[in-house]
Amino acid sequence: MATTITLTGAGGQIGYALLFRIAAGDMLGPDEHVRLRLLEIPQGLKAAEGAALELQDAAFELLDDVEVTDDAAVGFDGANLALLVGARPRGPGMERGDLLAANGGIFAPQGRAIAAHAASDVRVSVVGNPANTNALIAAAAADGVPAEQFSALTRLDENRARAQLAAALDAPVADIRGVTIWGNHSATQYPDISHATVAGRPAADALAERVGDVDAWLDSEFIPRVAKRGAEIIEVRGSSSVASAASATIDHVRDWVQGAEWTSAAVVSRGEYGVPEGLVSSFPVRSAGGRWQIIEGLEIDERSRTRIDASVAELIDEREAVRTLGLL
Ligand code: NAI
Repeated sequence: MATTITLTGAGGQIGYALLFRIAAGDMLGPDEHVRLRLLEIPQGLKAAEGAALELQDAAFELLDDVEVTDDAAVGFDGANLALLVGARPRGPGMERGDLLAANGGIFAPQGRAIAAHAASDVRVSVVGNPANTNALIAAAAADGVPAEQFSALTRLDENRARAQLAAALDAPVADIRGVTIWGNHSATQYPDISHATVAGRPAADALAERVGDVDAWLDSEFIPRVAKRGAEIIEVRGSSSVASAASATIDHVRDWVQGAEWTSAAVVSRGEYGVPEGLVSSFPVRSAGGRWQIIEGLEIDERSRTRIDASVAELIDEREAVRTLGLL
């Protein structure tokens, strides 16, 4: 048996970085064979076909089959994992409502196609932005597929936060645990180190020794650095984050499928931590048996509360906009 993986936007940049790592076994492990379905729009087909030729040339032993298509019914047929990377970017002068409408036109039909054609155990990871609300739209359209089988990527933000914390503490990134991203994958996200540890010690204590006023450092350095890292990459590299986004996607799916003690993912709220039910919001999660579970019972101080509420307010606005468009 092999796992069937559908990748949308397979002809794009993240797709190109992602495919080779999936086929190499980085996502599902060295024993799991994979069957790839590359779903594109007609303009992206050639690029996806080219990637498929290169996949063949790499002679990956775990790769059983590659199919390229612009037909969602074929693309999602039997999918166990769906990585929804293809999305409509914000164009010049585009308002948020236009962006949500354009992406609703992608993610609602894909949600319906997943419900109609994917395997019943399908797990859907949304990467294409605005990722949280695209996941909400797709899940709402996927009649009969439990919303728990959808999540959106905030792992890149978490990885950035862990790496920044490690750098500030001059510690190996492997020693950093318990970092959380709350809310939306956007500039309002809240990277939270309140429960983080470095080599088992509270990160805030270790930070105090280095930066003095921890709250001031979080507000003026850490949180803006993480939240605006995407813009920094564009400025320095001249292009958006690609390999790091692909790497975070691998981490997200691997942890979802294989299990994790503590990470962050945007999942459907059941009202945890006061986040309105039904929103797809980032939480601290663990994973077991292929299911995300929100880590409950964490103490949330006032500073954190304010920041979580601000990001959740943005998600509520996005949901309202999507409702107005008749997508929910
Ligand atoms: P890209 O523009 O290089 O590739 C996007 C691809 O999606 C294109 O080949 C396009 O033809 C395809 N596509 C568009 N509509 C499609 C549809 N309906 N079905 C199938 N394919 C479709 O963009 P890139 O750099 O690969 O980024 C992809 C998305 O990931 C963007 O929305 C970007 O904002 C998002 N992103 C999300 C991150 C996260 O942490 N959640 C991090 C970085 C990027």
